[in-house]
Amino acid sequence: MSLEYLNNRLQFAGQDITAVAEEFGTPLIVYDEAYMRHQMRRFHNVLSLKDIPYSVSYASKAFSTLGMIQILEEENMELDVVSIGELYTALKAGFEPEDIHFHGNNKTPEEISYALNHGVKFFVIDSVDEIGLIDSLASETVDVLIRINPGIDVDTHEFISTGQEDSKFGLSLITGDALKAVKTINDSRHLNFKGLHYHLGSQLSVYAPFVNALIRVFDWLDAHEIEIDILNMGGGYGIVYTEEDIPFPIEEGFDVIIDKLKQLCEQYERPVPHVMIEPGRSITAEAAVTVYKVGTIKTIPGVSKYVSVDGGMSDHIRTPLYGAEYEILPAELTDDENQEVHVVGKLCESGDIIGKNKVLPKNIKRGDLLVVKSTGAYHYSMASNYNQMLKPAVVFINEEGIKEVVKRQSLEQLIQNDIL
Ligand code: LLP
Repeated sequence: MSLEYLNNRLQFAGQDITAVAEEFGTPLIVYDEAYMRHQMRRFHNVLSLKDIPYSVSYASKAFSTLGMIQILEEENMELDVVSIGELYTALKAGFEPEDIHFHGNNKTPEEISYALNHGVKFFVIDSVDEIGLIDSLASETVDVLIRINPGIDVDTHEFISTGQEDSKFGLSLITGDALKAVKTINDSRHLNFKGLHYHLGSQLSVYAPFVNALIRVFDWLDAHEIEIDILNMGGGYGIVYTEEDIPFPIEEGFDVIIDKLKQLCEQYERPVPHVMIEPGRSITAEAAVTVYKVGTIKTIPGVSKYVSVDGGMSDHIRTPLYGAEYEILPAELTDDENQEVHVVGKLCESGDIIGKNKVLPKNIKRGDLLVVKSTGAYHYSMASNYNQMLKPAVVFINEEGIKEVVKRQSLEQLIQNDIL
């Protein structure tokens, strides 16, 4: 993704960001379509080089809109969904149901029936109790994976760490739940056991946990003489929000992970399973920026300066929720000195912070534009209407120019379900 100043004006993916914001308004989420495609191809390339059966599935929770899903289809991606809403969006965009996987720790009967009726590729079973539920709702054979909890601790924020033993997700290898699930599936009327899934956590920058998970999984498979066709290693590949972040080394990491997989298959005399991965953030996060307009500026002499923008935690929840750090740039550079300021939103919460102690020009003023980097994942998809804020518009920049893919929410839409 290219972000650079030209004659002191910030250019994103070859477009003048101020001009884009003037056309579509703010807050605005702007994606570089080529960057997303590039990331999808990186995953495809590294796995195809390893000469194994594989597929790359996009975790639609990171950012899913009709326009995004069309790109996934063009790039030969599969898709994982965790709700009827994500599934509906994918189907409406024309995504093939046989490339969609249905996840979730509490799929409702309504969601299961909807997914069955539309013929999703498989369900990822998250609990023993879900097995009977899907079996009772199915009328023909349904492929399933089980989501295991491999009991691997990872170095990330506790809210996005999922592979540890004490988690609401997955069937434990240690307590026997995973084994019980496989047996229950094998005894079921309609469910066909295809393999395993795990997701260790998100924003991981090292591959060692993936290697350790493989060792644990193969040991378990061997101990219980379980055969699998599919091994889904989940997502979680880390990206760069600020210069302190180390991105997951996609090429080197998968080279090592798949070599380990091959070695384990050889050691246990098993065929290499179909490998699946589920990147979300690493496809879209760095592909987008959010553009805000500066409003009120409050200076507390000798203490701090607050620069308020026209969005906030309704479209930028990751800082209030996880303490996530972002880089913030002015859309236009001035000759003025810099100073540290707090960039905050306009919502009624002191925690409505976009960035604390951010270095910005001293003469920043009402009407200036600020650009927050790496907002392409878990921003639009986590946006809310708190304070009756309108969800922002989203545009894609591609070779043909700028394409609006989500309109800004209207005031009418805000109350459309209200009943007087
Ligand atoms: N597969 C499964 C089963 C997942 O639960 C997730 C993310 C992914 C794949 C994709 O992970 P990614 O590659 O995007 O890291 N709202 C949080 C992230 C929650 C992630 C939940 N699961 C955030 O903003 O950081």
